[in-house]
Amino acid sequence: MVDFPLQAPRIEAAAEDVRTHTDRRPDVALVLGSGLGGYADTLEDRVVVPYGEIRHMPVSQIVGHAGNLVFGRVGEAQVVAMQGRVHLYEGHPASDVVFGVRLMHQLGAKTLLITNAAGGCGDGMVAGDLMRITDHLNLTGRSCLEGPNEDALGVRFPDMSAAYDPGLGELADAVARDQGFELRAGVYAGLLGPSYETPAEIRMLKTMGAHAVGMSTVLEVIAARHVGMRVLGVSCITNLAAGISPHALSHDEVTETATRVRERFVGLLTGVLERQESP
Ligand code: HPA
Repeated sequence: MVDFPLQAPRIEAAAEDVRTHTDRRPDVALVLGSGLGGYADTLEDRVVVPYGEIRHMPVSQIVGHAGNLVFGRVGEAQVVAMQGRVHLYEGHPASDVVFGVRLMHQLGAKTLLITNAAGGCGDGMVAGDLMRITDHLNLTGRSCLEGPNEDALGVRFPDMSAAYDPGLGELADAVARDQGFELRAGVYAGLLGPSYETPAEIRMLKTMGAHAVGMSTVLEVIAARHVGMRVLGVSCITNLAAGISPHALSHDEVTETATRVRERFVGLLTGVLERQESP
C-alpha cells in the first residue's frame, strides 16, 4: 500500500504560517498559468508571501517561475493568487499539485479562477483564442483524492457533473462580449506531459470530445470541487495542437502567444473579478 500523508494537518500548518504575514480572508483564489503570473503584481493593496516561508508548500524547480502567494484586491473582491504552480510532470505527487488550492480554500476562498496555456484542437480554433472550460477529461492517470478519504476536506466520491460553474461561465461570456471579443467554450483534456502530444493522440482526443489539451488544471479542479469551491477555468490557446499546426510545437510559441494575448486575458479576469458576487 502506498503511503498517503494526511493533508488536513499540513494545510492547517501552512495556513498558520500565512497568517503570521496577513489576516486577510480572500473571497476568490486565482491560479495563474503560463505568461499570466505578472497579473498578481497588478493587484491593489498587495501582501506577498513567498512559498518558501509556508510549510509544506511545494516549490517549482523550473527556472523563472516565481513562487509567491499574493493577496490583493480587484474592485471589491479580495483575492489570493498563486504566482507559480507545480506540475505532475516535474515529479510532484498529486497532493502537492493541489496543495495551493486547498490552502487558499482554508484561508477563506470559496471561488477558484484557474487559467492555463493549452493546445487547441477544436474546429475553427486559432492561436490566441481564449476558451472557457465547460468540462474536462482527466487523462493524467492520477487523482489527488487517491488514498484514504479525508472527511475534513470533502466526501469520498465527489460529484463532478457540473465541475465548472455555469453561472460563472455565463458571467465570463458576458464580460468578454462587453469587451468586444468572443470567448470560446469547450472541453479541456489534462495529460501528464511533458512531451507534447503526437498527431495520433490529438486525433484520439478530438474523438473523445476535447477542444483543448494541456498538462495542468484537472487535479486542481478535482481538489476544488472536493472542498466545495465553485470553479471558473479559462485556457489560453497558445498553439494549434500537434498535427493540426503546420509546424513543430515549441515552448517558445506557447510563451509568445501567451504574452501576445495577455492584455485581453487580464481584462477578462479583472472584469469577472469585479462583477462576480461571492457566495
Ligand atoms: N499540448 C499540451 N500542453 C500544452 C500545449 C499543447 O499543445 N500548448 C500549451 N500547453
